[in-house]
Amino acid sequence: MAMVQLSDFEAYAKKYLPKIAWDFFAAGADDCSTRDENILAYKRIHFRPRMLRDVSVMDIRTKLLGTEISFPLGIAPTGFHQLAWPDGEKSTARAARALNTCYITSTYSTCTLEEISAAAPGGLRWFQLYIHRNRAVSQQLVQRAEALGFQGLVLTADLPYTGKRRDDVRNGFCLPPHIRLKNLEGAFEVCKMNPLDPSVTWNDIYWLKSLTRLPIIIKGILTKEDAELAVRHGVQGIIVSNHGGRQLDGAPATIDALVEVVEAVHGRVEVYLDGGIRKGSDILKALALGAKCVFIGRPALWGLAYKGEEGLQEVLRILQDEFRLSMALAGCASVSEIGQHLVQFSKL
Ligand code: FNR
Repeated sequence: MAMVQLSDFEAYAKKYLPKIAWDFFAAGADDCSTRDENILAYKRIHFRPRMLRDVSVMDIRTKLLGTEISFPLGIAPTGFHQLAWPDGEKSTARAARALNTCYITSTYSTCTLEEISAAAPGGLRWFQLYIHRNRAVSQQLVQRAEALGFQGLVLTADLPYTGKRRDDVRNGFCLPPHIRLKNLEGAFEVCKMNPLDPSVTWNDIYWLKSLTRLPIIIKGILTKEDAELAVRHGVQGIIVSNHGGRQLDGAPATIDALVEVVEAVHGRVEVYLDGGIRKGSDILKALALGAKCVFIGRPALWGLAYKGEEGLQEVLRILQDEFRLSMALAGCASVSEIGQHLVQFSKL
């Protein structure tokens, strides 16, 4: 079967993954309105393409906090990659390095941080942190990631508790015994209690800063108020995210929340986005509205489910090719030419 677009990988994953794993990957919270809005919202945004602008030579590279990546798309943190492919996060790391992009590794990885680093030495990786009730566990994870060469620390802010994902409740979702959260071994038992600390506040950013010299990127921001607080607390980046619609159902689509965050931040820190990116033109719309880079969650899992590292490389290449083509058709030869003038902003 020719894999032409991301939904081809989605269909494959749905057909071949065990139902319990598919349901976990696909899940949104409650009615899944926010999950679905993340995708629908792109369809309401239209371009103002420019013509006759010499797009014979295209430059789609950009930089994430100073490090060059091949195009403005990276891999968002998602847990449990071994549910999709036996080599799990090792394959993810290899694919990200092959495409020269950033892979945000989840606290809930099923390979150790050491295994992931050894699988793709030199690849650009950030470590995503959920703050654990036992702060010593989080401290140790952050310091291990820094020692292993991870280049950023992503604090996920939108999960004081896990959203209600109905299919997971129905399925009694639990990791099969051969798959373990290797970085948290012994720290807690996955299905029995909420190990995450719901008392986390903005002040904990100062605590994180006392542990590490890594730049801190905060993930899960949807309002100008929180964007301002993030900047004031000294983070270096913000990921506009609603956790793929898995947390508060009724939260806005991320592409709709992006503009107020970008305006509030006013260039002081980099702003990224995840949620609902399914084709190259979605990336172009997000960049036009002020994102420096976007990240994919589920599509990376579909690529892994299809053919591990190779499958994820295919997903990334399709997005890269589509993005380059969309840019050219909109009249942009380099990422620096992308701006709000490219979209019919007033109709948002
Ligand atoms: C996630 N997400 C997530 N986020 C995070 O900070 N840490 C994590 O461990 C996870 N785990 C996770 C698992 C699965 C199965 C999904 C689908 C999502 C959220 C993720 O980083 C991202 O915000 C969304 O997935 C982006 O939306 P799309 O690209 O899936 O539409």
